Amino acid sequence: MIKNVSELTSTKQFLLINGQKVEPTNYAPLRSPYSGEEIAQIAMADKELTKEAIGVAYNARKVMAKMPAYKRAEILEKVVSLLKEKADEAAEIITRESAKPIMFSKAEVARTIETYKFAAEEAKRIHGETIPFDAATGGVGRFGYTVREPIGVIGAITPFNFPMNLVAHKVGPAIAAGNTIVLKPASQTPLSALFIAELFLEAGLPAGALNVVTGPGGIVGDAIVEDDRVNMVTFTGSPGVGIGIRSKAGLKKTTLELGSNSALIIDKDTDIDPIIDRCIMGAFSNQGQVCISLQRVYAHEEVYEEFVSKFTAATKRLKIGDPLDPETYISALISKGEAERVLGWINETEGSTATIATGGKLTDGILEPTIITDADHDLKVSCQEAFAPVVVVNKVSSVEEAIKEVNNSRFGLQAGIYTNSVKNALFASQELQVGGVIINDIPTFRVDQMPYGGVKESGTGREGIKYAVEEMTEMKLIVWNYS
Ligand code: SIN
Repeated sequence: MIKNVSELTSTKQFLLINGQKVEPTNYAPLRSPYSGEEIAQIAMADKELTKEAIGVAYNARKVMAKMPAYKRAEILEKVVSLLKEKADEAAEIITRESAKPIMFSKAEVARTIETYKFAAEEAKRIHGETIPFDAATGGVGRFGYTVREPIGVIGAITPFNFPMNLVAHKVGPAIAAGNTIVLKPASQTPLSALFIAELFLEAGLPAGALNVVTGPGGIVGDAIVEDDRVNMVTFTGSPGVGIGIRSKAGLKKTTLELGSNSALIIDKDTDIDPIIDRCIMGAFSNQGQVCISLQRVYAHEEVYEEFVSKFTAATKRLKIGDPLDPETYISALISKGEAERVLGWINETEGSTATIATGGKLTDGILEPTIITDADHDLKVSCQEAFAPVVVVNKVSSVEEAIKEVNNSRFGLQAGIYTNSVKNALFASQELQVGGVIINDIPTFRVDQMPYGGVKESGTGREGIKYAVEEMTEMKLIVWNYS
């Protein structure tokens, strides 16, 4: 069992296959995105080792399918209590490997605890329903019901931006439903996943039920997606990779949580002061590396100037720097390459109608939180997913115009609207082409039991434990002929 952060982050890491730490031939250094220092040596699995992990998960599927619900719930409850004991250590691991400011890592750990708690509860209420067969003339004399059976082996491919809680959103419901898992965490954030996997072993999860395979996406990810013994792939990440997974997965079920350029509408009657902190959080928490990060604001012309001025002033006050400093709000993006990409997108606004209200520069390698006003739809900062602390604010003359702008996107994950008009709130909830409409809050709102997922290029399927359990189980029908 791992004892502390320094042990976890200074040593050679491992693959977790069949409950054993496996050391492959190849390793790669894991560096802090903030300081560049080496924090661990990560095991690089090849195709053969990935297949071995899949084989182990395949063999363990019968053990898990037979495990009673109360036992699955007990294991998940034990993980909850172990994680509570190690919450500070867990947050530090997230911060070290991802540069997420520690205040947000602590919040992520708190959410992860809740997510596993929801999974423990959900394990005990997986059930089907009785079917009124005699509603059809041919069904008279029949009695029947559905049950939900585990789908089998689940391949989970998780992103760097919530390395603990988005692992929980896959592992939690998978175990709750009696499945086994082969988990490939993001290359930049494997430590959080290995930490959690060890807690599962300590909690009594049978060997082989959860296997963690670190290594290159093109090798490990493809081996998982293409293997016929894997029954479902659940992925959170970029639309490009998601579309690739869909094309390689064949008939496997796929849940894809992809990107977005999420938007917020601010109606004319909105009181601006109370919404500023939420907008700061929506746009800049985790450096904007959140699928539902607030990237576009459409503010009514009657409140536009006030919003821009107060939002800009508050943004300028954010502390930038070391992610381990409890005061830091903004730190480094996940890689230098990402910072350069976003800087390129910001520079593209030069010579357009857009104005940079604040930010737009790198300070000690950290991209400053950036607000751009009057940005054309076709600029990359508007129409693509920035996944960075960048937000565009545009003026509109009505809620109708704002909705049109919000819908003018390849993506459709969540959208928010601040309004005091019930009519406008209802209209927006009907018209917005997204998976979730958030009234009187930012599109970044998420708690972990709610259904979460998108339309258009934002993906398919839903997370949120109950909904993920539905995706991770097969419905079976049983019909009795008693005539
Ligand atoms: C995501 O970035 O996909 C998840 C956002 C969240 O869980 O808050």
